[in-house]
Amino acid sequence: MPAFADPSQQLDGFQWPLQPAEPAPGAMRRLRLAVMASGEGSNFEALTLACRADRPPADVALLVVNNAACGARERARRLGVPCRLIDHRLQPSREALDAALISAFQEAQVDLVVMAGWMRIVTPRLVQAFPERLVNIHPSLLPSFRGMDAVGQALAAGVRLAGCTAHLVNEEVDAGRILVQAAVPVLDGDDHASLTARIQRQEHRILPLAVGLAAQRLGLLAQG
Ligand code: GRF
Repeated sequence: MPAFADPSQQLDGFQWPLQPAEPAPGAMRRLRLAVMASGEGSNFEALTLACRADRPPADVALLVVNNAACGARERARRLGVPCRLIDHRLQPSREALDAALISAFQEAQVDLVVMAGWMRIVTPRLVQAFPERLVNIHPSLLPSFRGMDAVGQALAAGVRLAGCTAHLVNEEVDAGRILVQAAVPVLDGDDHASLTARIQRQEHRILPLAVGLAAQRLGLLAQG
């Protein structure tokens, strides 16, 4: 039994400050998003559902996956979101992979691209194609525990507070401007799975908010 209740559980009814944009005079169109995922796709699904509830007012126009068998692809099928497989193993280089991604995103005419568990390092080519328009979700309170296995790093360091960060992507790994963070306690008896699950519940909450904030910064979405 944890020594104390997990306070992050109590936030479930919390109302994020971001409201759907009022259809302004000269009304803004809905945002078009692309999502990149390599694995389970729980963030992709949470973001898609949040967008369908207008938080933020956006459409996930395209999911790109790099693994044919990933859960994200199955979720896209279930949710009716167009999905493209761009397998990195079939690309001659990281640059070629990113060039294929850029073409897919340009074709889909998206405003923002969301890296939701994309397990490849992106090149400056992708970052420069979508300046200030590329959002990533990372399972740590950045700038702590950048890079691979952030949850394992947090457990090994013995921190009592962990969390997640949604940030803009620049050319340095996990170092772009922070948009939203959420903290969760590390409880006695936590293991990798239990801490990951607690962090992911918060990822699902902050990623849609961060996408809205990124769009607001670009003037694509009215201030809430
Ligand atoms: C998330 O924990 C995210 O922070 C990390 O990869 C994981 C993806 O999970 N970058 P899912 O595929 O969205 O379920």
